[in-house]
Amino acid sequence: MCGIVGYVGKRDSQEILIEGLKKLEYRGYDSAGVAVYTDKGLAVKKAKGRLAVLESQLGESPLRGTIGIGHTRWATHGKPSDVNSHPHTDNSLKFSVVHNGIIENYIALKEELIAKGHRFVSETDTEVISHLIADLYDGDIVRTVQRAVKRMTGAFALGVLTEHEPEKLVAVRLASPLIIGVGEGENFIGSDIPAILEHTRNVYILNDNEMAVLTRDAVELMTIEGNFISREIFHVDWDIMTAEKAGFDHFMLKEIYEQPKAYRDTMGARLNVAGSGVELNEVKMSAEDVRGISNIHIVACGTAYHAGLVGKSVIERLARIPVETDVASEYRYRSPIIKPSTLVIVVSQSGETADTLAALREAKRHGARVIAITNVVGSSVAREADDVITTWAGPEIAVASTKAYTSQLIAFYLLGLHLAQTLGTIEAAEVAHTIAALKSLPEQVERVLEQGAAIKELAEQIATHEDLFFIGRGLDYAVAQEGSLKLKEISYIHSEAYASGELKHGTLALIEDGVPVIALATQEDLFEKTVSNIKEVKARGAYVIGIALEGDDELRKSVDQVVTIPRTLGLLTPALSVVPLQLLAYYAALARGNDVDKPRNLAKSVTVE
Ligand code: G6P
Repeated sequence: MCGIVGYVGKRDSQEILIEGLKKLEYRGYDSAGVAVYTDKGLAVKKAKGRLAVLESQLGESPLRGTIGIGHTRWATHGKPSDVNSHPHTDNSLKFSVVHNGIIENYIALKEELIAKGHRFVSETDTEVISHLIADLYDGDIVRTVQRAVKRMTGAFALGVLTEHEPEKLVAVRLASPLIIGVGEGENFIGSDIPAILEHTRNVYILNDNEMAVLTRDAVELMTIEGNFISREIFHVDWDIMTAEKAGFDHFMLKEIYEQPKAYRDTMGARLNVAGSGVELNEVKMSAEDVRGISNIHIVACGTAYHAGLVGKSVIERLARIPVETDVASEYRYRSPIIKPSTLVIVVSQSGETADTLAALREAKRHGARVIAITNVVGSSVAREADDVITTWAGPEIAVASTKAYTSQLIAFYLLGLHLAQTLGTIEAAEVAHTIAALKSLPEQVERVLEQGAAIKELAEQIATHEDLFFIGRGLDYAVAQEGSLKLKEISYIHSEAYASGELKHGTLALIEDGVPVIALATQEDLFEKTVSNIKEVKARGAYVIGIALEGDDELRKSVDQVVTIPRTLGLLTPALSVVPLQLLAYYAALARGNDVDKPRNLAKSVTVE
C-alpha cells in the first residue's frame, strides 16, 4: 500500500506526478505529497485528504521542475495529517524520500539520530530514512542509499532525491513493489504499472534487494550491494483504457461488467479446441507429482481467501484431495503441518499482499510446492511460486475486488479439472460436460448483469438498514461470505454471513421485524434444507431476498424478493451467484453516498503485515 511515483526528464514533473498518483490512489488515499527539484532547490508540498486537495493546492502555487517524486499514503505509523504525509525530508531540506512499507527498527534509528542532533517533526517511520540518508551522505547518493538501506530492517520501496545531485532519482526495492518505466529522454518509477503507462510501455520490474539509479537519459539497475544487473525490458501489452473508467461512473461497476470478458480470457486457450480437456500448461507438475500430493492448503487474504473457500469445494469434489483453507495472516503463526507432499495454493489479485507472500515463503521453507493464482504477471507472488496460473482479468482498480475474484474461481475450476483429469477421479464425459458449462458462463453472467436495474432497487431498500444477514449452505455459504464482505467494504452496512443451518444456534436471536436477509439457494441438493432455514427467518419477521436458479418457483413462494441466476452445474454457481451480490453492494454504497472505489480505511494492495 501507499503509492510511489517518480519522474526525471524534460517535462514539467508536477503534472506527471499527480496524474501518476491518480492511477495509484487505490493503494492509499488518506494524504498525498510531492517533492520537486525547482530552481530554488527541493520543494515539498503535501496535504491530508484525497489527492484532489493536493492537486488544488498545487494549482494555486505550482512547483516547477523536471524531476520529482510523489506519494499517496495509507497510514501505518502516525495518523493521516499534513505533517505525516510523504515526501519526508531531513532538517537541511536537501534530501527527500517517499516510502512504501514499514521500517521495523525505526525507533532505534530515530533515537540514534536524535542523539546526533536530528530533529523530527512527524510520527512516521519514513522520516527516519531521510535523516539517516542525510546523516550518512558522503557526496555519492547511490553509495549513501546503499549504506542507509543496510541499516534498515523491514519491507520497503523507496524513491530518493537530493539537491546535492539533482539529476539523479534513486529507487530501492525490498519487499514492496516498484517498477521502473523507461522512456526517451525521461524515466519513471512507480509502485505499479498504471502509474506510468500513459508515458511508456517499457518497464523493468525490480526484485527484492535491487535498486535503480535514474537520470534523464539512463537507468542503471544494481543490487543494493552495488553490483550492476542487466535485465530484459518487460513490454506491457495491455491498454491504458483498461485502467480507466471507460464511461462507467466507477471502476467497480466497470469491473463488474468486465466479468464476461475476464471469464473468457481466463479460460482462453486453456480449454482445448475439442472442448474435451483442460490444458493447464503453466502448472508444470508431472502426473507423478500430482499423484504424490497428499493434501492441499489454500492460503490468501480478503476476497482472494473467499475464492479459496470455493476452490476447496471444487478441488475436493473433482480431484478428491483433502484441502484446508487459511487466511494468510494466520497461516504462518499457527505452525501449519506442511509436508513436502503438501501442495500450497496462494491466491492474490495483486500478487503483492505481504501476508500472502509470507505464507508462500513459509510453505517453500517446508519444501512444499507452491502454485500461485494471481492477476499480476511479474508480481512478487508470481515470481516466487513454482507454478503460476494467471487470471486474465486485466487491471483491477476498485478496492472492492470483483472480476479478480470471479477469475480466481475460474482458475480453481481449471485447476480442479486438471488435477482430476490427471488422477482419473472423474470420467472424461464429466470433464467434457463441466467444460461445456464453463464455456456458457460468460454469456450467463451477461444475463445476470441485465438485471442491474432491478438489483439497484433492492439495494436502495437495504441501504436504509444498519444490519443485514447473508445465509447459504455449502457453496452458497462461501459466496455469502464474499457478498457480505463486499457490502461491508463499500456500503459500511454491518452484515454477517451465516451457514444457514447454523442460524438457529445463536444468530437467529438477531432477526426481528424487517431485518433484511439475503438467502442464497442455488444448490439443488441442499434446496429443501435452505428453504426450511428461510422459513425460520421469515417466521421472525425478516425481509428475505432470495438468490435462486431461474425457474425456481418454489423459492419464490418463500421469500419477499427474488433475483435469479441462469442454471448451471452446482459447482459452477458461485461464478454467477456472486454477481448480483456485487451489484447489490455497489448500488447500496451509491445510495448511501459513499466513495465506492475508495472506501474508508481500506486499500487495494496491502503490502504491510
Ligand atoms: C486488501 C483488499 C482486498 C483484497 C485483499 C487481498 O485487503 O482491500 O480487496 O481482497 O487485500 O488482496 P490480493 O491482492 O492479495 O488479492
